[in-house]
Amino acid sequence: MEPTTFVLFGATGDLAKRKIYPALYNLFVRGKLPQAFSVVGLGRREWTDEVFQAAVERSLYQFSRTEPADEAQLNAFLEAFRYSVLDIGKEEDYRKLLALVESREKALDMPPNRLFYLSVGPEHFEPIADNIRNSGLGSANGWKRLVIEKPFGHDLKSARALNAKLSESFAEEEIFRIDHYLGKPVVQRLESLQQANPVIQALWTNRYIANVQITASESVGVEERAGYYDHVGAIRDMFQNHLLQLLMMAAIHLPFDSTSEKVRFKKKKIMEALVPVQRDEVSAHLVRGQYAAGSMGGKPVAGYKEEPGIAPDSRNDTFIAARLRIDNGDWRGVPFYIRTGKRMNKKSTRIVVEFKEPLKQAWSQSEDGVAPNLLVIEIGPGESITLRLNNKEPGAHGGFKPIHIDLHSTPSDSPEAYENLIGDALKGDPTFFAHWDEVELSWEWVQPVLDAFEADEVPLREYAAGSRGPAESDALLAEDGYHWWFDDENDATPNSEGKEGADYAYNANANH
Ligand code: BG6
Repeated sequence: MEPTTFVLFGATGDLAKRKIYPALYNLFVRGKLPQAFSVVGLGRREWTDEVFQAAVERSLYQFSRTEPADEAQLNAFLEAFRYSVLDIGKEEDYRKLLALVESREKALDMPPNRLFYLSVGPEHFEPIADNIRNSGLGSANGWKRLVIEKPFGHDLKSARALNAKLSESFAEEEIFRIDHYLGKPVVQRLESLQQANPVIQALWTNRYIANVQITASESVGVEERAGYYDHVGAIRDMFQNHLLQLLMMAAIHLPFDSTSEKVRFKKKKIMEALVPVQRDEVSAHLVRGQYAAGSMGGKPVAGYKEEPGIAPDSRNDTFIAARLRIDNGDWRGVPFYIRTGKRMNKKSTRIVVEFKEPLKQAWSQSEDGVAPNLLVIEIGPGESITLRLNNKEPGAHGGFKPIHIDLHSTPSDSPEAYENLIGDALKGDPTFFAHWDEVELSWEWVQPVLDAFEADEVPLREYAAGSRGPAESDALLAEDGYHWWFDDENDATPNSEGKEGADYAYNANANH
């Protein structure tokens, strides 16, 4: 790994403390930071280097997955951190920043390889990128990279405008757009799941797959983010980015020699093949919902409109379920159902691939319950990949029982998403970052939905906090003869450790 200066805008902020410092620390402990490494933190507060280093240290005790145990190691890590006060709009502060970065590079005998991490609101992306260019912080003698977080725009138009602006200062291959779902360990392993298992790869088509269900349900509500969330809703907060990324990752076919170019090219092809939804068809393929008062864990919970900071007549969406179709040879005829919501009955991010049931006909006369085979990819909070098969019990009257083959279970101390992604950005590996083409195509798909929402052409369905979402989301699948899998509070996805609720047991009567 090449020597790098990590320039962090928003160094006193929440994300830095919760995610970025712990990620850097764990990379350091695992020997995955460059040998020569310097961090320059920037913020408006008048901090000294010592105050900054103490804040970083505190964040490790609070948020790191491994607590610092070795004092010498911790000090060696903290020694890399320096702080500079910066007012984002002030050119002079960038000159000061350049002088500090250069003096550290000189002291550590490093080339001017600089990674600029913008852990700040999106309204600051443009002025920062401009100032980086104008101040000469990007040096011709080294490389420069820009790491930014969602939201990348508010709609198609603003996303394009933002990208055009950033492109004036950074080339596409220098821009690393973080979508933290792409950093999740199980998502990163989808690629090798196919590559290492020709059996799975062979089944990965519309010949054998009936439907694909992607769920990201959350039990939390809007929390303290009313000001942000009431303007974006589930469609922009989760669907346009995280969920469409999961769809791309689930739908791509990868050759054995896949490279980051190939992965991203294939993802783009999936987005291009996604059948657009016209504004007047949105209601037929998409359910929008908002949570009302309900109860969770036996306690009453307020409805969305009663949450602090939310407009009492808000029409914002806190739930989306949609049916999408990919019009290519592999996926024609296979619905992809995508769903996300706040204040649902449980926190679960998963992909369930339901296979077709050629056996069903043959066994339909018997008492035996033959359930469809399922590939269950549990992304969070548990992490596992299991294949559910049917096993005939011995004896003349034995029925079918599901068995779960554990294809992968991640150790509980696996790196966090930010650790994976920051490590990749430092290496310059863009595989698990969103390319502009993907982002643009995602906004293109979503734009008619935003227009239809804006004009209030799509009913806003209420669902009780703590429930599975609006009934219409079940109806969406029932129209096609399917149902959502693993939906009840106690019906956890099967994983090797059997954690997260009750053991999964197939109930033949619950089948569609
Ligand atoms: C964020 C959204 O991007 O993802 C949040 O802004 C959401 O609203 C979060 O809660 C969910 O992430 P995770 O990793 O907890 O599934």
